[in-house]
Amino acid sequence: MANIIIPPGWQSKDSESTSRSAYDSRRTFIKTLGLGSIGVIGGWSYACSDEDRIREVVRVADRPDGPLGTIPQDAPRAGLPADRNTLYKVGEREISDRIAASSYNNFYEFDGSSKEIWHLTDEYDPFPTVLKVRGEVEEEFEIDVFELIESMAIEERLYRFRCVEAWSLTVPWSGFPLAKLIERCRPTSKAEFVRFVSISDKKQMPGVANQPWYKWPYYEALRIDEAMNPVAFMATGMYGEPLPKQNGSPMRVVLPWKYGYKGAKAVREIEFTRRQPKTFWNDLAPSEYSFLSNINPNVPHPRWSQASERFISSLESVRRIPTTMFNGYGEWVGSMYPDEPRS
Ligand code: MTE
Repeated sequence: MANIIIPPGWQSKDSESTSRSAYDSRRTFIKTLGLGSIGVIGGWSYACSDEDRIREVVRVADRPDGPLGTIPQDAPRAGLPADRNTLYKVGEREISDRIAASSYNNFYEFDGSSKEIWHLTDEYDPFPTVLKVRGEVEEEFEIDVFELIESMAIEERLYRFRCVEAWSLTVPWSGFPLAKLIERCRPTSKAEFVRFVSISDKKQMPGVANQPWYKWPYYEALRIDEAMNPVAFMATGMYGEPLPKQNGSPMRVVLPWKYGYKGAKAVREIEFTRRQPKTFWNDLAPSEYSFLSNINPNVPHPRWSQASERFISSLESVRRIPTTMFNGYGEWVGSMYPDEPRS
């Protein structure tokens, strides 16, 4: 059966939020940030271990497995579903539908011009992956990611998530504080920054083969104090299950006070440095994507406003809401940024 392809509710709103020419040039500019069409497959809630609903997704998407069928069979499941750490609140926002969170994605290694990533991930095999730890550390080492995840105390964090493109979600991630991994890496006192490098494989990731204009592998970085902040998280799962491939399996960085692109997916290397490392989007367009990239409604992107966002409750239910400073995490992270414009 053919896919039912309907532009999602927030696609037109994206162009409305931006002037038409800005919107068009944004699409052309990096061939990436425009919104592709997507199969509209229903508006379901987190409690969607509901087999009937998943079957409906499968039927509509004309796939035997659907966007949740991309959870790797051999991913570690120890500690899942994990207890939620209730210190972190999301306010009035409901949990986004898990189908939406796993079928509307940015993952340029697979495709930079569409959000429909999940059906491009067949060849991608996140396990086994060896994490390399290098640079300013007591001793460089490598560790199997499966073993690493199994050795960590897994907790759940319900976090807001905000993309620079002005769409947002609320996602229950599972994983461990990034600080726990940093401590295990034993950085030296000279380490000022930490750099994350993603998996990049032409054979497994069509976007790496087809988009040579990007500087693969994807690379991102934080200051050490940012990486050690208690809110910084390494996600290995979401919605009580291991991460689907399109969401960054085997593990991805989650920084809810920063625009989504600061969180590298499919991390395979961590490097500690003395100097501020280069980062993927900042290298491509430094005037548009800063190193810090904190979520700030007072600082518009050069080509669109960041004062509000389209909150994706489900694929059928998207509403515009105001963006908040540091995405609501100011009490945790605000003191790290005295120079961030507050008004
Ligand atoms: N990490 C890698 N390796 N490659 C990417 O293309 N996209 C970033 C970020 N991490 C990206 C990445 C962007 S732009 C966003 S908004 C988020 O992942 C999207 O995460 P999601 O698809 O799970 O919502």
